Amino acid sequence: MANVADTLPSAAEQSPDQPAQTGASWDALSREILELKRRRNAVILAHNYQVPEIQDLADYVGDSLGLAQQAARTDAGVIVFCGVHFMAETAKILNPHKVVVLPDRDAGCSLEESCPPDRLEALQATNPNFYTIAYINCSAGVKALSDVICTSGNAVRIVEAAPPDRDLLFVPDENLGAWVIEQTGRPMTLWQGNCYVHVEWTHAAISRIREEWPGAPLVAHPECTRAVRMLADEVCSTEKMVTWCRNTDARAIIIATESGMLHRLKKECPDKAFIAAPTDKCRCNECRFMKLNTLEKLHDCLANLEPQVELPPAVIERARLPIQRMLDISARSR
Ligand code: 13P
Ligand code: SF4
Repeated sequence: MANVADTLPSAAEQSPDQPAQTGASWDALSREILELKRRRNAVILAHNYQVPEIQDLADYVGDSLGLAQQAARTDAGVIVFCGVHFMAETAKILNPHKVVVLPDRDAGCSLEESCPPDRLEALQATNPNFYTIAYINCSAGVKALSDVICTSGNAVRIVEAAPPDRDLLFVPDENLGAWVIEQTGRPMTLWQGNCYVHVEWTHAAISRIREEWPGAPLVAHPECTRAVRMLADEVCSTEKMVTWCRNTDARAIIIATESGMLHRLKKECPDKAFIAAPTDKCRCNECRFMKLNTLEKLHDCLANLEPQVELPPAVIERARLPIQRMLDISARSR
């Protein structure tokens, strides 16, 4: 059996969130980024899975919902989106006349890849009564085909608000969709997509770490499989994890989500120990797409205003409606 004191060095080993560069070069680069940001009148929005040095520089760090809300209300001229491509696209859809850049254009998402718009359109054609709810982890093309968008932070609320006489089609995450069905009791047709990171956790690996840490609650993201979710004390979005961990009396907490989250949690709850849930293969679940972004690329995208997110005006116009619907429902339920 492990104890809390044991975790303090080993938790850091489990989630190698310290930069390899020297402090001096890091500081110089950070100063340049902040100066560029000032000159460009830019805002830096970063997801909870970004590397620590980007999180530490950002104006706002949060989950997909918080980031979309920030993008909707910013008055900055340039939005620098440190996350993955679909998140930057959402910011562009909400700000069609602003420059939106992201450090690495190739920062994709396995969920987005699983759901090409033409295949969704073909499925929608099989049932005119479908009401399509798209998890925000999808392309602008899929958003443009959807009735409403949701994030893991508001998916239950969005499904509860869906018209009762329609057949719900939930895309593209089958695990989040299944969890929402469990929470709401509302049947839905689920697209067969998943997050390649979150499906790595297994019932066996999580059971083992729970035995090692009998007093530590498990907090899991709803993109995990049901076999893992059923072992969790709390299933929630990355931002809700911060609130839950702040409020619990537990001194050590097992976290089943991408490793970048541990940096945010350690900053928000410095008196608690966070244990990265192990998979059968390793203890370091990193999203290879999120980790494409580096401080150097952040610097270069601010300096060159490249790569920019560009979308056809018709897609922007169509995709804006379901995103706005989501923001309105979320604002009403606060
Ligand atoms: P959150 O909205 O909970 O931050 O999740 C985003 C994501 O990509 C999870 O893999
Ligand atoms: Fe997509 Fe999974 Fe990466 Fe989140 S962690 S961005 S769902 S691949």
